[in-house]
Amino acid sequence: MTSRTEEGSEEKWYHRASLYQIWIRSFADGNGDGIGDLYGVYGKLDYIASLGVDAIWFSPIYPSPNADYGYDISDYRNIHPDYGDLDQFDRVLHRAHELGLKIIMDLVINHTSDEHPWFLESKKGEENPYRDYYIWRKKPNNWNSFFGGSAWEYEGTRDQYYLHLFARKQPDLNMDNPRVREEIKGIIRFWLDRGVDGFRMDVINFISKREGLPDGIPWIPAVNGVMHFKDGPHLREYLSEFRAVCREYGDIVQIGEGPLTSARTARSYIAGEHPVMDMMISFDHMMADCLFTEYLPKPFSLVSMKKAMTRWQMTMADGGWNSLYLENHDHPRIISRYGSESHWKESGKALAVSYLFQKGTPFVYQGQEIGMTNIRFRSIREYLDIASIENFERFFTGQPMHKRLNRIHHSSRDSARTPMQWDGSEYAGFSRTEPWFSVNPNYHAINVAIEEQDPDSILQFYRLCLALRKKSRTLLWGEYREYYPRDDRIFTYTRSLGKNHYLILCSLSRLPSFARIPEEYRGRTARLVLSDQEPLSRFAHLDPAHYEREKLPGVILFRPYEARVYQVRFG
Ligand code: GLC
Repeated sequence: MTSRTEEGSEEKWYHRASLYQIWIRSFADGNGDGIGDLYGVYGKLDYIASLGVDAIWFSPIYPSPNADYGYDISDYRNIHPDYGDLDQFDRVLHRAHELGLKIIMDLVINHTSDEHPWFLESKKGEENPYRDYYIWRKKPNNWNSFFGGSAWEYEGTRDQYYLHLFARKQPDLNMDNPRVREEIKGIIRFWLDRGVDGFRMDVINFISKREGLPDGIPWIPAVNGVMHFKDGPHLREYLSEFRAVCREYGDIVQIGEGPLTSARTARSYIAGEHPVMDMMISFDHMMADCLFTEYLPKPFSLVSMKKAMTRWQMTMADGGWNSLYLENHDHPRIISRYGSESHWKESGKALAVSYLFQKGTPFVYQGQEIGMTNIRFRSIREYLDIASIENFERFFTGQPMHKRLNRIHHSSRDSARTPMQWDGSEYAGFSRTEPWFSVNPNYHAINVAIEEQDPDSILQFYRLCLALRKKSRTLLWGEYREYYPRDDRIFTYTRSLGKNHYLILCSLSRLPSFARIPEEYRGRTARLVLSDQEPLSRFAHLDPAHYEREKLPGVILFRPYEARVYQVRFG
C-alpha cells in the first residue's frame, strides 16, 4: 500500500511505523537455560504488539562466538543455537506477521567472525579460493581499531596481516571483491525468501575502503584512519547492488547505521532519484554528554542535543527521512544519561516526548519503555562488553580505581544489555534459572508487571505517545521547527501541516524552569493533548476535540522534567 506523503514522495509502511529493538540474549528466556531466545520472544509478541509498535528489529541472532555479542557472525544463514533454530525463527516471524509486526534483521557485512568458514579458508594461503574475501597486507598501515590498538592482526599461516576495524575477531570483508558482494546478495535473498521485511545494516558506511589504504593521521590515538574508510569511494555503487535485490521483494526497509556520517551525506543516500537506503542511524545527538564516545564524558548539554537533532531534522526535511532513537544496545540507558535517576519517572517521560514527536521513524529499545537504568558493578571483572574492557585497560590507567570504574559505569554498553525486567520475581521474570548476565538490582521497582498496573507509568506513557503519533497526519508528516535553540533547559519544537500544529515543550532540567511560548502561538487557543505530570487517563481519548481549550500565555512555569504537547489550530 503506497500513497503520497505531504511532500510528494511515496509513502511507505516504515514512514508510519515505529520499531522495537530486541537484543535477544537479554530479552526473555523461553527454554530455561538463563539465555534469552526465540522461544522467549514468541511468548512476548503480544506484549510487543501492545506497545503500538509496528516492527521488531533483531540485533544479530545468528551463530557467533560472541566476541562482540552477535556482531561477529560465523554463519549468516542460521540461528545461534542459544536462541533456537530456523524453525523457531519461522514461528516467530509467522506469529509476528499475524499480529501486524514486521521483522527486520541485522545485516553485519563490514566484517565477519574470524571463525566464519570464509575466514578459516582465507587465512590458509594465497592459493585458496577465498584468499581475497578479506583485506590482507604484507605490511599494515597505521590505522587503529574502534576497540583499541592496531586495526591489523598478523596471521602466521599466510605470513600477512588482516584488517579489522573492530575487534581482532572481526576481520573486515573485502567488499571490492565481486564474489563477496554476490555472497551478501545471497544472504539478503535467503532472509527475504523466508519473509523478513527489512534490514538494519551495521556500520554500513565503512564497507568501501579507499584504494591503497593510505595511512591515517598518526597522532590521533583513536580511529585515525576514518577518512579513508567512512563513506568510501564505492559505497553508493555497492549499496545500489544490494538495494536492487531488496527491490525485487517489494517495500523492504533498509536502515543504515552510519557512525560519524554527517546529516548531508546521510541524506545523499536516502533522498533523490536513486536512493540506496531508507533511513540512517545517526550518532550526533548521542554525544551531548561526551566527546565522541561515552567514555570521555562531559556534562549533559541540552543545547548540543537539540542542535544535533535539529540539524538532522532540517537536512532531511526535503525528501529525506530520519530514524529517531535515544537508546540501543550500543549506549548506556538514557535516563541515567540525559535524564535523572532521582527524577526517574518524569525524566523518562520527558525524554520520550523529546524525540517521539519529531519527524521520522521512532525506535524503542527493549527496557527503554519501562525506564530501565544503568547497571553499576564493583569490579571490572563483572563487565562483559569488549569496548568497556578495552577502554578500561587502555586509557586513564593512572587514575584511582573508583574513577576508572565510574567512567565504565557511565559509558558501558553493558547497561543496555542486562536482562529485561519483566516482574518482581527472582531474576526479574527473565528466566527461571540464573541468567547469563546480572539483573539490575532495581528490578523490584522497575519492571513491566508493576508498570502494567500503574496507569501513569512510563510504559503507559510510551503507549500513549506512540498512539498519538500514529493517529495524527501532522505528527507523521508535518514540518518540524525548533524554537529557542539556546535554551539550556527546555526543548521547544513544533510540527505543522496546513492549519494544524503541535507545540511540544519539554524540560530536561532538574530545576523548575520557564517555558517560553513561541510568539506565533501566544494568545492562541490550544488543547493540551499530553502532559507527563497529569493522570494519563485524561489523555486517553487521543482525540484533541475531547480536551478543553485554553489560551496560551507567554510563558509557563514548568516543574522539573515537565513535558507538554499542545494541539493548536491556526486560522
Ligand atoms: C555496530 C554495532 C555494535 C558493534 C559494531 C561492530 O556499531 O551496533 O554493537 O560493536 O557495529 O559490529
